Amino acid sequence: MYNSKISGLGYYVPEHVVTNNDLSKIMDTNDEWIRERTGIQERRHVVKGDGDTTATMGVKAAKVAMERAGIDKKEIDFIVFATLSPDYYFPGPGVLVQKELGLDTIGALDVRNQCSGFVYAISVADQFIKTGMYKNILVIGSELHSTGLDMTTRGRAVSVIFGDGAGAAVLTREEDTTRGILSTHLHSEGEHAEELALTAPGMGGRWVLDILKENDPEDTSYYPYMNGQFVFKNAVVRFSEVIMEGLKQNKLHPSDIDMLIPHQANLRISQFIQQKFGLSDDKVYNNIQKYGNTTAASIPIALTEAWEEGKVKEGDVVVLAAFGSGFTWGSAVIKW
Ligand code: UT7
Repeated sequence: MYNSKISGLGYYVPEHVVTNNDLSKIMDTNDEWIRERTGIQERRHVVKGDGDTTATMGVKAAKVAMERAGIDKKEIDFIVFATLSPDYYFPGPGVLVQKELGLDTIGALDVRNQCSGFVYAISVADQFIKTGMYKNILVIGSELHSTGLDMTTRGRAVSVIFGDGAGAAVLTREEDTTRGILSTHLHSEGEHAEELALTAPGMGGRWVLDILKENDPEDTSYYPYMNGQFVFKNAVVRFSEVIMEGLKQNKLHPSDIDMLIPHQANLRISQFIQQKFGLSDDKVYNNIQKYGNTTAASIPIALTEAWEEGKVKEGDVVVLAAFGSGFTWGSAVIKW
């Protein structure tokens, strides 16, 4: 048995900054509401014609991660790509990364676990490395939300929150099993699938032809829907549970955490968790203020920035935790 460790990190966000005031010009919203409820000040949106897609942003992040890991693309054995906003309905973006990076015909797996996508993805990659099947796995979380949001007052409760971007990690075999990814825990509760969802088009519901035929301007089924307060209440409970689960498994206590990287869903959720675990400001990393919620990309972007700023160092106990649509949630405890 081996462990896996994160040997390289990278991220990419589009250049175009969209402030809260920019949004207030196209819908009935305001900077105060958005900041107070979410902590978000600005987010990035792709610009049509720039060529940024979920897959291409993932590739840009991946190139940085591979360079920092100091490995050649030939050494990558497998790709795991987490997103809720794929370039195509199918195939998923994993194969587009394989093509774009000119990798051998290695396997490419797509993970559909929304905000928990990156934690699910590194858990999958970790299992492949633990068993000895693969040595180096490219794990990507990337989202292009902006072109799929209802950017009118009707959609404001959701559209002000989400931003575009990508993050990537290279997971590499670690012989020392007291280091690297120590544990991952994954959960789901499908009973609440529709509380945070984009339900159409879907094979089980309304398909594209139905939508086109009906041509109903009131139809919002192909925009994301979120029952915000219900999601919020579940998030704070599940975040706490799954962080504790990871700590207990490793006989650690909240005071052992050197850096907590929560999925960037809402600054108020992160602050609640921080307070609950008694962590000081320097032990929780937040960047939702700059990027909004980038779903599967939020943890790898935040982790990369924390690492770049020297806030994640060798020997540190780093905890990743996520909650989101599904509902799904999970955590990873890492000895850096
Ligand atoms: O990443 C996946 C996990 N996601 C989460 O964990 C998110 C969890 N939920 C939340 O973060 C919060 O519920 C939100 C930030 C989404 C919303 O905050 P809230 O305090 O739950 O607001 P609300 O939806 O209850 O809306 C309060 C009011 C409503 O007006 P009335 O009915 O009180 O007159 C909304 O229409 O705020 C109104 N509103 C807005 N006003 C200005 C909703 N969106 C906006 C907006 N600007 N963008």
